[in-house]
Amino acid sequence: MEHYVTVEKLTKKYGDLVAVDNLSFTVDENEIFGFLGPNGAGKTTTLNVVSTLTDYDRGIVNIAGYDLAKDPAKIKALLGVVPQEIALYGMLTAAENVSLFASLYGLRGKGLKDAVTEALEFVGLEGERSKRSDKLSGGMRRRLNIACGIAHRPKLIIMDEPTVGVDARSREMILRSILTLRDGGATIIYTSHYMPEVQEIADRIAIIDKGRLAAIGTEEELLGYVTDRKSIRIGTGTGAAETGRTAAASVAKLAGVKAARYVEESGEICIDVGLELANVSPILKDLMEIGVTIRSFDEEAPNLETTFLALTGNALSVEGAEHPGVTGRGRGKKPAM
Ligand SMILES: Nc1ncnc2c1ncn2[C@@H]1O[C@H](COP(=O)(O)OP(=O)(O)OP(=O)(O)O)[C@@H](O)[C@H]1O
Ligand SMILES: [Mg+2]
Repeated sequence: MEHYVTVEKLTKKYGDLVAVDNLSFTVDENEIFGFLGPNGAGKTTTLNVVSTLTDYDRGIVNIAGYDLAKDPAKIKALLGVVPQEIALYGMLTAAENVSLFASLYGLRGKGLKDAVTEALEFVGLEGERSKRSDKLSGGMRRRLNIACGIAHRPKLIIMDEPTVGVDARSREMILRSILTLRDGGATIIYTSHYMPEVQEIADRIAIIDKGRLAAIGTEEELLGYVTDRKSIRIGTGTGAAETGRTAAASVAKLAGVKAARYVEESGEICIDVGLELANVSPILKDLMEIGVTIRSFDEEAPNLETTFLALTGNALSVEGAEHPGVTGRGRGKKPAM
């Protein structure tokens, strides 16, 4: 099957900085594609290229059979963009903002009015339609930002951190909206720093780091990427962050340990060890010598957060670490280990 979006060997530089480095991936029609990476990985830059907002140095971008270099106007007509930086006119009301953006895509008259109402209902802002957008709360502005990107019913929707800074209820509403858009026939590419949400809605996920592709596939496929280690979690109780950090740094230097970090929110020390390490006593001894109180010890089933950490050396987010119950649960099939 022909892919709906094909990005091939894309490179984009800002001066000497290679923001996107020979990046290739495809997105199928009617798919929700999660695009993950640490800060500065090149996600926004890539999405800006795909959205025709930024030029690029090398590579091929093809969308719905159109080559970006030859037919940017054809591609623009298919697109709906929800940018990372909220783009609204503060002096205009919620409805006027949506109307303005939808009119840029050629909607007029009754079609435009209906599209505005539908989009506002879609993000739960129908009741605020006559409020000036600079009088809305941050979460509402985030939702209005989405309404502006989707009112013209685009085939390909590109959302850059659509849920950042919104409360749990609004986040749920946005996620449901994304699923509804997909079920209505749209293809969606979106970035997020919130792993549970990606696990909840993405059909496939790409992890990029330093402008390069680190992994791509379904959640289950991604869990198979890192097979050289297992993770252990040591509960130390909260309130001794200094000791926890010192301990993580010390343990990270021990033989057989690949990485260690202290998660302040949960008071846990998370340690990646090579599969060959049969005896964890030296780790526990080191922790005790530093003065860590060991309250619990668990081997962790591989999950997307640990995979992301192993591939990029970064936690996806502080937010992710605030939800150990979610990130810590064993999911999917274990890769061979
Ligand atoms: N307009 C610009 N001029 C110069 N450098 C830029 C510009 N935009 C981005 N960069 C750099 O390119 C790299 C990739 O940035 P980008 O915004 O694409 O990352 P990101 O993955 O979206 O990160 P985040 O998770 O923080 O949004 C970074 O090193 C950034 O500093
Ligand atoms: Mg970004």
